[in-house]
Amino acid sequence: TFVVTEPCIKCKYTDCVEVCPVDCFYEGPNFLAINPDECIDCALCAPECPVDAILEEDEVPDDQQAFIQLNAELAQQWPNIAKKKPSLPDAKQWDTVTDKKHLLER
Ligand code: SF4
Ligand code: F3S
Repeated sequence: TFVVTEPCIKCKYTDCVEVCPVDCFYEGPNFLAINPDECIDCALCAPECPVDAILEEDEVPDDQQAFIQLNAELAQQWPNIAKKKPSLPDAKQWDTVTDKKHLLER
């Protein structure tokens, strides 16, 4: 399965959702989550993300491991998103910030 990780937080570019053949992205206030039960591992989304936030589960680095469980959990709580929309207004200024885990809004 594929996992959305920290770089997505406060950017939410949504280019990823357009290409997903099974529409398994779910939208929170400042982050998206992939439902691992629905993802078919097609790998189409990963290269679409401008901040490289989407990783294959077995390539998630140690400091991002919490996102595996977070994607599963948040995808159950958030509404589906299948159409691209404008990124968050300050996306550009956040896309190089590396320590923003604590800013994830539920
Ligand atoms: Fe969707 Fe494919 Fe990405 Fe899984 S890997 S979230 S199925 S685009
Ligand atoms: Fe997030 Fe990248 Fe998609 S920033 S919304 S994972 S395109």
